[in-house]
Amino acid sequence: YKSNKYNLQIPRTNKDRILLGFAQVGAESGWREANTRSIQSAALAEGIDLEMRFCDNKVENQIQAVKSFIEQGVDVIAFPPIIETGWEEILQEAKKKGIPIILSDRKMNIDDETLWTTYLGSDFIEEGRRAGRWLIQQTGNDKEQVNIVEIQGTIGSNPSIERKKGFEEIIREHPKFKIIKSRSGDFTFEQGKMIMKEFLEETKGNIDVVYSHNDDMALGAIEAIEEYGLNPGKDILIISIDGTKAALQALSIGKLNCVVECNPLLGPQLMHVIKDLMDGQEVPKQIMPPEDVFTSENVKRVLENREY
Ligand code: AHR
Repeated sequence: YKSNKYNLQIPRTNKDRILLGFAQVGAESGWREANTRSIQSAALAEGIDLEMRFCDNKVENQIQAVKSFIEQGVDVIAFPPIIETGWEEILQEAKKKGIPIILSDRKMNIDDETLWTTYLGSDFIEEGRRAGRWLIQQTGNDKEQVNIVEIQGTIGSNPSIERKKGFEEIIREHPKFKIIKSRSGDFTFEQGKMIMKEFLEETKGNIDVVYSHNDDMALGAIEAIEEYGLNPGKDILIISIDGTKAALQALSIGKLNCVVECNPLLGPQLMHVIKDLMDGQEVPKQIMPPEDVFTSENVKRVLENREY
């Protein structure tokens, strides 16, 4: 056993190797696939045994996965909570067993913050603000009202809640910007396309801006706009979040206008913080990866070296 500042008695299954249980959301987006690959390859490189379960974007599967990691007695559990709430009971169980919890890429809404050790991931409110700021800067005074449609991510998820909040905080100051419709596309291409189709039909195409909470839904929306007979990126401005290669390619040919980066390559930092925790070291409560904003002006530079 080892103890650390969280007073957890951390059971070590094997003296030399750490066993990490990771309850992954699923494969809903290109971002998520890059995140999975990053975690798998970093675990391999760092000699950490990884057991990853894919939860098909279902909260009950994720709770079950965490439960089975606790029963199995892994050394540490990491996961991106699919939704923000409902985690007290299972995290109490982990605490009783002395298994530290790391929140990877999504935070949760929980009163007792001693139930998790560290959050490794982005500031989603700031991502929403960045999207809003870009829009305000872009849109001149030629329009009396700017009609925005918002395609949200998974309802109740931390990135969806906070990306909405940050964006609204900025546009609230500018009354001509109006979110005329907002619906969830669950972070997937198919649902993004379907929601956009509905928006176009309901508004008869009277839309100026799409604000999409991730790239996959934005790419789906682009297809829907083209099928409707309009030009994405020209007739309708598209703002997205993530920064996958597919979205940056769309940006480079003018079908997308702004991509706020959310970094999925968390594997190396995750393994680092796990090693520190297992060594009994103090770890920061929040660790944030570096991120940027991409537009037609800087996309070429980043696209050349994009891995995902
Ligand atoms: O939690 C990060 C978000 O989850 C990404 O923006 C999205 O693509 C993914 O599904």
